Amino acid sequence: MTTMLGKMSPSITSMIRMDHTHVLAAFHQYQVDTPARVKKGLVDNICLALEVHAQLEEEIFYPAMREVSPDETLDKAKPEHDEMRDLIARLRALQPTDPAFDTTLFELMRTVMHHVADEETQLLPKAERLLAGQLSEMGARMTKRRLQLLGPRSGELAGSMARSMSTGTMFAAAGALAAAGGILLARRASAPSQGGRTAWLNPGRWGH
Ligand SMILES: [Fe+2]
Ligand SMILES: [Fe+2]
Repeated sequence: MTTMLGKMSPSITSMIRMDHTHVLAAFHQYQVDTPARVKKGLVDNICLALEVHAQLEEEIFYPAMREVSPDETLDKAKPEHDEMRDLIARLRALQPTDPAFDTTLFELMRTVMHHVADEETQLLPKAERLLAGQLSEMGARMTKRRLQLLGPRSGELAGSMARSMSTGTMFAAAGALAAAGGILLARRASAPSQGGRTAWLNPGRWGH
């Protein structure tokens, strides 16, 4: 695809790194003494972000990598996503006041950190060597698909953001959904986003 959108889009590798950064930032906001309501909001945001991110990678990024360089890291990526999905299902079945909520969240955090390390030190550099001419077009496809996936879940995203921000701190949890979430939330609020609270969600601030 040689459309203007494809040429102007941030690369898919930049988008993947940005998703990782925001999920890790949300993990860092979670502490054992965080109020239960805020814990629930953070976890809802983390889970939604991970589900969307994993699906985008599985549909767009991993197949492209498999064509140019199948390897062991790629082979274990999907099973690691499935491990995350199991932990997400367990978290959703727990109350935030249950001590198992903390331990399950920390287990998810450990799994995600390990997985992100493999992607950022192996898969993304390899993609930038082998798929250099396609990364922006893939980024555009990822944004389009993200909007499709998040559209039906915009209410869920807005609710979890509101709960997780109730401490009054500007945390980055929902930034994991930056590309589409910012657009969806800005639309929902129907308020100017430039310079306001939603400005940081603007995908235009992403680098290439
Ligand atoms: Fe990833
Ligand atoms: Fe992944």
